[in-house]
Amino acid sequence: MKFWDREKEKAWLKHYLQTEPNAILFVYGPKSSGKTTLLMKVVEELPKDDFIYYWYDLREELISDYDSVIRLFFTPKGWLKEFISAVKPKINLGVFEIEPHVLEEIKRKERKPFTEMRKRLEEDRAKGKMPVIVFDELQKLKEVYLNGDSKQRPLVRELFNFFVRITKVLHLAHVIVMTSDTFFIERVYFDSTLENTSRYFLVDYFDDETARKILLSEGLSEAQAVEVVKMTGGIPWVLMEVLKEEDPVLVANELYKQTKSKLIELVRSNESYKNVLKKILEGENMYGETEEGLKELVDREVLFMDPVNGEVRFQTRMHERAAKQLLGLQ
Ligand SMILES: Nc1ncnc2c1ncn2[C@@H]1O[C@H](COP(=O)(O)OP(=O)(O)O)[C@@H](O)[C@H]1O
Ligand SMILES: [Mg+2]
Repeated sequence: MKFWDREKEKAWLKHYLQTEPNAILFVYGPKSSGKTTLLMKVVEELPKDDFIYYWYDLREELISDYDSVIRLFFTPKGWLKEFISAVKPKINLGVFEIEPHVLEEIKRKERKPFTEMRKRLEEDRAKGKMPVIVFDELQKLKEVYLNGDSKQRPLVRELFNFFVRITKVLHLAHVIVMTSDTFFIERVYFDSTLENTSRYFLVDYFDDETARKILLSEGLSEAQAVEVVKMTGGIPWVLMEVLKEEDPVLVANELYKQTKSKLIELVRSNESYKNVLKKILEGENMYGETEEGLKELVDREVLFMDPVNGEVRFQTRMHERAAKQLLGLQ
């Protein structure tokens, strides 16, 4: 697998993981910005013997209640398959193994799940390894967190409390949580019980200059590279796609047209979207506004909301260009 750039992000994350755990780390960013890919690369490049990873890909899990969370923790499935085959020889993967009778007691709520996990983390540390718990696509827990009934909600709270305990209080393990759902991040960010317990790290698309250099290094001409970046911006997945074909500019154009027709369709369904798009194009910062249509445009991933930096912007260059065209500004 090809891996481009991210030198700065890699250095930051490597350093972070090599210092004492003291906070939960939320890695966030727009959809397909390369969060998962980046973290995989980072763990691959860290010294193998110093770490043990408990890696949960929640995208593939059905999480609705207490039992499903317990099952997730103690019989981890849903690990990225490519991840396992590509990276397994290079990293230590941990599993929370547990005696069947203990598991039964946990399910009957006669024993606390997180105490069992803490013991395991302490054993790892005693063996000189730093445990790293990774939760990918954490927003899968959102339903339980936001809408769970009175029996379920405490579990997610308990999970966060556990994360706070093992990081900030006991400095026992690192916890990295990844998500592209910014409403979820916003909710967590302003959750008073998590105040002074969390760090936030934005993984954004490549900037234009980086994207251009990547395309040049992959054999595109200067004119092609400039044209592709102008049209699509630095979305890793898009760069990957345009490079697959004979005429990269044509592919970029096709992808752009897809984005544009989706946006046209969307705007047709609700006129208020236009006002929001116009304001954003005029450079207005709409973060925190309650304007009609704003939330939906973030939900539909036309806009990207960053609660940490307090801004709302277009999800991609393609969305921005499409909005300009739509409003007759280009
Ligand atoms: N640094 C990179 N180098 C090469 N390809 C990348 C890079 N980052 C992301 N990609 C490509 O983009 C796709 C989406 O990345 P991913 O890590 O899944 O995004 P996210 O986790 O942010 O949704 C990946 O399948 C991969 O092909
Ligand atoms: Mg991901």
